[in-house]
Amino acid sequence: MFSSVKEIMKLRFNYLGYQILSKYSTRSTQKAICDQSRKISYPTFGQPTYLTHPHLMKEGEVVPGIHLQEFKSRRSKLLERIIRNNSVLKNPTLTHVVIIPSSSTVYMSDKIPYVFRQNSDFLYFSGCQEPDSILLLTAKGDNFSSTIFMRKKDAHSELWDGPRTGVEAAASLFGVDQALPVGEFERFFISFVNENNKSMIWYDSANIIQSELHRKLMQLIKIADNQMFNCPKTMFHQIRSIKSKAEIALMQKSCDIASEAIAKTISVSRPGMSEHQLFATVDYESRMRGAEFLAYPPVVAGGKNACTIHYIKSNQIIKDGDMVLMDAGCEYHGYTSDITRTWPTNGTFSPQQRVLYEIILEVQKEMIQKMKEMPTLDQVFQEMCLILGKKLQEINLIPKNFGGEKLVAAAYNYCPHHVSHYLGMDVHDTGKVSRGLTVQPGMIVTVEPGVYVSSKNQFAPPEFHNLGIRIEDDVLIQDGEPLVLSRKCPKEILDIEALAKENQTS
Ligand code: GLY
Ligand code: MN
Ligand code: MN
Repeated sequence: MFSSVKEIMKLRFNYLGYQILSKYSTRSTQKAICDQSRKISYPTFGQPTYLTHPHLMKEGEVVPGIHLQEFKSRRSKLLERIIRNNSVLKNPTLTHVVIIPSSSTVYMSDKIPYVFRQNSDFLYFSGCQEPDSILLLTAKGDNFSSTIFMRKKDAHSELWDGPRTGVEAAASLFGVDQALPVGEFERFFISFVNENNKSMIWYDSANIIQSELHRKLMQLIKIADNQMFNCPKTMFHQIRSIKSKAEIALMQKSCDIASEAIAKTISVSRPGMSEHQLFATVDYESRMRGAEFLAYPPVVAGGKNACTIHYIKSNQIIKDGDMVLMDAGCEYHGYTSDITRTWPTNGTFSPQQRVLYEIILEVQKEMIQKMKEMPTLDQVFQEMCLILGKKLQEINLIPKNFGGEKLVAAAYNYCPHHVSHYLGMDVHDTGKVSRGLTVQPGMIVTVEPGVYVSSKNQFAPPEFHNLGIRIEDDVLIQDGEPLVLSRKCPKEILDIEALAKENQTS
């Protein structure tokens, strides 16, 4: 078994080097050796390694920023949790098998792939960035084992799609006990369950990730009466919801990149530009700072378009006097940011824009502070609606005689989305972790109050109609003061106006 990528490379090089040196043994043939050496085929991988991509990774890391040891501990933590839960079920003899499929390539039309994005659960526990692979973990008592099933190397496919890691190097690269060709999964799985009287198969059958694998497993459910099936997703997400030091560093970088990219976009914006150009700017500025891509189709909404919460068309011209609401984040080495800023493209908030912006900013800061109390995200939302409601009453957007439930409902009407979600490898991260649970140090959440005043709103004075404002930051929960990871993106009125004034023509 190879102990590192370096060793795999060395062995391969020595073997080929030996063949070449015995063939060209005199000094006069040095040039030929050099020429031939250039043709040495180093082992290739289906993802960056520190030897092939030293600008991205350090020695010992499986993916940029995350060390091999961290992947091993993630897998152990999962199996330990399964065993612990199982002892609650009082069945210590049960064998456990966890099956986590990688994503498959999705095509936009014939042979034209979408940019590949790995299944986050698979990536989190394996570090493998290739499609059509499977991670299988087993626990028999205290005996844990890990197997990764990989696509075999295939010269023809690799000519088109680039290198694959293959089976030979995979166990060492990902730090698992063994690697097998993906074609052997079925045989391996069936013989494993046949060897064990009773096993619990942890597989998420509700979300089909690999259709062929899913079909086979569903067939097995029908015939195997000694097997029990259970969904592991909640456990995956509970583990993923608490970020490690290395993950926090990646999240900080993702937030820094998006913060700077949005700040730059504010500074170049001016009336007459198209939403599309601002989209292009934030995309470019994010990639130029090292992001792989934007984490989601950004909302770039001028004027009343901001009242459409999922506005992603970005095909309108921004008028003088209008604000732009930009909700954009990037993905940096598998970790996402999710930031919203709203600003006047001419550099000056109108009186109505200003008063509404001030209210949302105050509410947002209060909700960030509230995270110190380790509330549930649902409690933060409930409280946000109440505080926002009272403030909107002060500026006559909600009738003054509304109170209690009625006031909360009226505020909810202005902000019809939740104020917070977990953030991490996915934008709406760890969806199986309820927002009814208290937050814990190490979690990263968004805080994103907004107000959208429809032109049909019967309470709001007409001068507020069609204004849409949201302010969204990414916040690390810690003991004591929460840390705003997106703090590099200005949100104070004076700072926003100063930035937005930078590129005005007159
Ligand atoms: N950008 C999606 C969200 O804020 O939840
Ligand atoms: Mn957002
Ligand atoms: Mn969000």
